[in-house]
Amino acid sequence: MLYGRTAEQAVLAALVTEARAAHGGALVVRGQPGVGKSALLADLADDTRGIRVLRAQGVESESPLAFAALQRFLSPVMDGVSYLPDPQAHALRAAFGEAEHVGGGRFLVFMAALSLLSDVARSSPVLGLVDDAHWLDDASAAALLFVARRLQAEPIALVFGAREGDLRRFEADDLPELRVEGLEREAVRDLLADQTGGPVPNEVADRLRAQTGGNPLALVEMPATLSSEQLAGQAALPRDLPLTRGIERLYVDRYRRLSALPKGSCWSPLPTTPAGSTWSCVARPLWAPGGTTSGRWRWPSCSPCMGHGSSCNIPWSGRRSTGPRPAPSAVRCTEPWLQP
Ligand SMILES: Nc1ncnc2c1ncn2[C@@H]1O[C@H](COP(=O)(O)OP(=O)(O)OP(=O)(O)O)[C@@H](O)[C@H]1O
Ligand SMILES: [Mg+2]
Repeated sequence: MLYGRTAEQAVLAALVTEARAAHGGALVVRGQPGVGKSALLADLADDTRGIRVLRAQGVESESPLAFAALQRFLSPVMDGVSYLPDPQAHALRAAFGEAEHVGGGRFLVFMAALSLLSDVARSSPVLGLVDDAHWLDDASAAALLFVARRLQAEPIALVFGAREGDLRRFEADDLPELRVEGLEREAVRDLLADQTGGPVPNEVADRLRAQTGGNPLALVEMPATLSSEQLAGQAALPRDLPLTRGIERLYVDRYRRLSALPKGSCWSPLPTTPAGSTWSCVARPLWAPGGTTSGRWRWPSCSPCMGHGSSCNIPWSGRRSTGPRPAPSAVRCTEPWLQP
């Protein structure tokens, strides 16, 4: 069940309605981790009567493999390749390792992908869902973008889900974008009521919304870390909300990748005890809008847990300051901190 998101659902539904009428198009659903991009894509796929749904997902481990995602996306319709013009059919098969390369370049592969989808769409409209597009291999991303820009007269809708603020970005600025933000007040209250099995007092819901930025992932996981008295507003909420498993996973993931931080900002790692770890404290700097696009800071290797994936219990939190860089003595860290 999705709470809030009426406006987002309407935008996505309109894209599909247009595609049914042979006015195809593409849309990039962009937002921060856990904000509900995949949930929106899944919701869209819920009612696809009479539509052929094709899916692909960017996968980090496959991002060095040219055309890995495109192969997955097109595999259910590869039977149709034999009806393509020979050079295109051959190029597509070669791209997927099913034929020898004979030259012709990527253009033929891109054209083959477009022709194939166009052929499929003759028998029923097509909805393509490409999630985690920031992890697409470059060749697949280029092919899918090539297709996305040529859908105007096709009964095809292509929807990409992509994280913002991650180090790797799905570059598709010429495509229309649907930006997904934290949930509104009412939606937060409904979601919390659903999670806890009953209404949560408004002041508790508002405080949780303020501390999570309305991030659904955090709101889904947070109630399990609080007592029923806290959720009922009969006991004070902790000053710092606890780090939940899903949120922790996101941060470990991000810490592993973090190599560039914005110019003019200053980040300091501060040791915290597990009890003192707060996801809101960790979250703000890492999720700051436009936060990791430039700069040459390297995260120090002072956290022994980095690289241990989700099994790691993060002993660090980050704090961003746009003021002057604090003296090293002010940083309670036994190791070197930010290295230019
Ligand atoms: N509007 C919503 N109402 C209720 N639950 C939601 C809503 N949006 C998202 N969720 C839930 O929040 C969690 C995170 O959502 P989701 O996986 O879609 O985030 P995401 O933006 O795709 O994150 P990531 O960038 O990590 O892929 C999921 O459990 C999802 O079911
Ligand atoms: Mg997702």
